Amino acid sequence: MKTLSATAQASPNIAFIKYWGNRDSALRLPANNSISMNLDGLFTRTTVSFQPSLGVDELIINDREVTGKGLERVSGILDLVRQTAGIDLRAEVVSENNFPTGAGIASSAAAFAALALAATKAAGLQWPESAISRLARLGSGSASRSIPSGFVEWKMGTGDEDCYAVSIAPPDHWALADCVAIVATGHKSTGSTEGHALAPTSPLQAARVADAARRLDICRRAILERDFETFAGIIELDSDMMHAVMMTSQPQLFYWKPATLAVMETVRSWRKDGLQVAYTIDAGPNVHVICPQTEMAQVTAFLREVPGVMDILQAGVGGPARLG
Ligand code: DP6
Repeated sequence: MKTLSATAQASPNIAFIKYWGNRDSALRLPANNSISMNLDGLFTRTTVSFQPSLGVDELIINDREVTGKGLERVSGILDLVRQTAGIDLRAEVVSENNFPTGAGIASSAAAFAALALAATKAAGLQWPESAISRLARLGSGSASRSIPSGFVEWKMGTGDEDCYAVSIAPPDHWALADCVAIVATGHKSTGSTEGHALAPTSPLQAARVADAARRLDICRRAILERDFETFAGIIELDSDMMHAVMMTSQPQLFYWKPATLAVMETVRSWRKDGLQVAYTIDAGPNVHVICPQTEMAQVTAFLREVPGVMDILQAGVGGPARLG
């Protein structure tokens, strides 16, 4: 019998226009489109093998067996693949990250992107990129954006079928870098999935969503025209708007630490002084500082001087999820 096994790797991504809140949380249909860039050099590598000897799915992440909710989420994706491929075998899923978890980089995006690609390939399915992005989305919304290459837009669509991500520009279109200023490690108290569910409790979420198409247009155009000034303004506004929603949710979600704010203020003052640099922050305290790759060494050196910055992780623009 043919071995039903495949390995895939995918990078995490950083969102410039954020995904926050779902119109259907079971299907992860987002309230608005989002735009991101893949992070080069960071990846999750996952092998999926469907095996007759297994009675249940098994999940091993960074050499540790994972059970409970984490395994259920993975089994949900495997079930969809099994249904479509007509396979009745359980799978072993072995996954490794080359970047630290709890470093402010969403590991679920890279993880579910690599899982979706490896599982469909292992099952012998020949799916187009859009279908794999859609499957990754069902595991973690932002994972849909780690399937296509470079700069990516996840379309909210009208339903499950047309809700997936597409590349808007390849990695070599614009040599940007993400310098992640780590100001705290350890796991966050409220994960993104619970956070999305709280978004509608903020009176500001409706305004954030109503204005999303405008911000998306500005961000998309700034990327296509490599217009850093416009890009910087819109990604900071979008990040601030998401955090305003978080801070005004019930219960409140407040992710910033004093050092988060110190980096935000410093980045703004560097930009006033002529440096091309901008910040964006996900559901955690660490600050993603975006700049042209030519400024990366200087930005990193400057960031080391900001009180409270413990470490800095660097990444360029990454390619698509791929096999092997
Ligand atoms: C703040 O994709 O991690 O990083 O769909 O529940 O897995 P789930 O949530 P997730 O949410 C990401 C939220 C964000 C913004 C973004 O990446 O767009």
